[in-house]
Amino acid sequence: MQRRTLFSLLPFTAGALAPMLSSATEPSGSVPLPRQYDNFTDWLTVARSAAMSYLKEFGADDTERFMRLLSLWACAMPLPPDPTWQPLKDANTPIDLATIAGGRPFVVSAFRMAPGALLPLHCHPGGGGITLCTSGSLVIQHFELCEDQPAFSNTGARADVRQVRVAQLAHHQATMFTPTMANLHQFHAGPTGAAGVEIAVQWQGAGEFSFLKLEQPAAVEHFSPGERLAGRWVGMQLAAAYP
Ligand SMILES: [Fe+2]
Repeated sequence: MQRRTLFSLLPFTAGALAPMLSSATEPSGSVPLPRQYDNFTDWLTVARSAAMSYLKEFGADDTERFMRLLSLWACAMPLPPDPTWQPLKDANTPIDLATIAGGRPFVVSAFRMAPGALLPLHCHPGGGGITLCTSGSLVIQHFELCEDQPAFSNTGARADVRQVRVAQLAHHQATMFTPTMANLHQFHAGPTGAAGVEIAVQWQGAGEFSFLKLEQPAAVEHFSPGERLAGRWVGMQLAAAYP
């Protein structure tokens, strides 16, 4: 009886699982899918090539679709070599930044934050990014500009934003934004600090941005999806953005 049951299961496993396994290892179209990489430079070369293949085949208009492709590659990225760190000017608790790889169609940079450090709310007009935590922990709160609000270039203007997501990241966890989705964010390092990598794409502009100083910064600690918060554009000076 037991033998018969075993035989009756075999056609199921052979017929149903095998196609799933084979299709998971075949590339789709001409855009290569990530595999396993032990070396960051090897990963970067193939990831860049895949991203360029995508752009050649599908164009750059669908920003979210492109960022989803890069998310796949972010998952397969080995840790980059230890970079040359630069302190972020005016940070009230140490934050260091580093460029890992410039160029097109994406750049890779790294950050590290002392325990409890805050990188206040800011936008990335025309840009998208994937933020991957590589050690420690951090909370990234994402926002979007409400309708009919002044653009980031109106320094001094009051603007309302809406909370859309909170990402509590630990080792190898990531979050994403695009030019039109969750484009504003602020970083808050956990009790042991945080380090991470960001893969960034710029569709429009040259990377100009602005911090948005919230009128009630404490409110951001109590995440409420859809909640509207008021702030004021303060330009690119970090010192003006802290509560
Ligand atoms: Fe940012």
